[in-house]
Amino acid sequence: MNNNDQPSIHGQWSSRLAFVMAATGSAVGLGNIWKFPYITGENGGSAFVLFYVLCVATLGIPLMMAEVMLGRRGKRTPINAMRALAAETGTSQHWQFIGWSGTLAGVLILSYYSVIGGWTIGYIFHAANGHFSDLSGKGASTLFGDFVGDPWVQIGWHTVFMLITMSIVARGVRHGLEKAVTYLMPALVVLLLVVLGYAMTTGYFMKGLAFLFTPDFSHFSGTSALTALGHAFFTLSLGMGAIMIYGSYVPQKISIAGTSVAIAVADTMVALIAGMAIFPIVFANALEPGAGPSLIFETIPVAFGHMAGGTLFGTLFFVLLLIAAWTSSISLVEPAVTMMIENLNMTRHRAAFWTGLVTWLLGLGTTFSFNVWADVEVLGLTFFEHLDFLTSNLMLPIGGICIALFAGWAMSKHVSRAELNMNSDVGYALWHALIRVIAPIAVSIVLLHAVGAF
Ligand code: PHE
Repeated sequence: MNNNDQPSIHGQWSSRLAFVMAATGSAVGLGNIWKFPYITGENGGSAFVLFYVLCVATLGIPLMMAEVMLGRRGKRTPINAMRALAAETGTSQHWQFIGWSGTLAGVLILSYYSVIGGWTIGYIFHAANGHFSDLSGKGASTLFGDFVGDPWVQIGWHTVFMLITMSIVARGVRHGLEKAVTYLMPALVVLLLVVLGYAMTTGYFMKGLAFLFTPDFSHFSGTSALTALGHAFFTLSLGMGAIMIYGSYVPQKISIAGTSVAIAVADTMVALIAGMAIFPIVFANALEPGAGPSLIFETIPVAFGHMAGGTLFGTLFFVLLLIAAWTSSISLVEPAVTMMIENLNMTRHRAAFWTGLVTWLLGLGTTFSFNVWADVEVLGLTFFEHLDFLTSNLMLPIGGICIALFAGWAMSKHVSRAELNMNSDVGYALWHALIRVIAPIAVSIVLLHAVGAF
């Protein structure tokens, strides 16, 4: 079955730019600005950064191409796209597992993403009310501790974030997304550069750079490698169908390779700038690089608190971070919502309501992980940490292996070559080798090594 001439029933992007913007909006989010710095700090810096960049370049880019390609050819929600593609290629219907696991991963990730998104809303108000002025590192830690320590405040902001996300999803992802990404993402980068400028004045800029870029493998473990790999998938929105569903709205003529490289480069730049801005502030204020999820909420306020116009810029920063989080969160639920529309015959509004409700309920576990359940640990991890490990370090990499295997082995070269439509034969051969052999083997080695298999 090949329905290549028909657009997806959910619509189509108006142009190449619209797709690039939407995919960049999905990729650039809390992962770049909140998560990347703190997991870098927890894993000792430079070696982790190096391994992450390597994973983005050699595994992330080919996999993004594969996901867009499968989406564009399948033109349905990931579950049904995989069903259709399995039928088309004459392989087992078990491949639809990719769609199910991805759809579930999206809901699980959004459940905690929404809580952190809620933090950014809370911090807009802290910034606007002048709570950052002259803040010390210690003061910032107290502010954050009090903020996450109150379960009701946490539930409140988590609820607001979910409501806004689902109301955008209910109206269809393409309305408004393009504008948000075209103007607001560059604005966010400008404000990150402002923080970077401040970081240069702290006297610890070189120390920050050394932490990020002078290779030091002494803190790098098997788990660090898996975390870096998992983050490469997370930050590019890979392994769970978000890019696949956005790919399904891509018109036939667009070049998949060039677009994927552009998105990966933009995404990595944002993360590296965030890292360079944050660590000098960490060192200058005697904060802990391994502080964990609180890291940017303790450093960014200090930066704006010591800057002329800091109240305004600080407020703007968290508003823009919130928008970056929204454009990612809507892609996290898009697989689940389109699945309910296609398989349960629901309207988009209804599908958004039910997915939103379930995700919100799950998110309560994360809101409590920072207060009433902070000490409840199973196998040394809180509810939030388990959810993060399960999704980023297991579900996304395993989803990625399966996508690579399907694109590399189940799909014929004839079909993938035609879909990718690359100008260069060498480029295609390289992609095919990476996706067929290198990606599945490399990801399996990192996974098995981290679980202690060797
Ligand atoms: N890439 C997003 C970020 O970095 C998170 C995300 C993961 C979005 C998976 C969609 C799918 O914040």
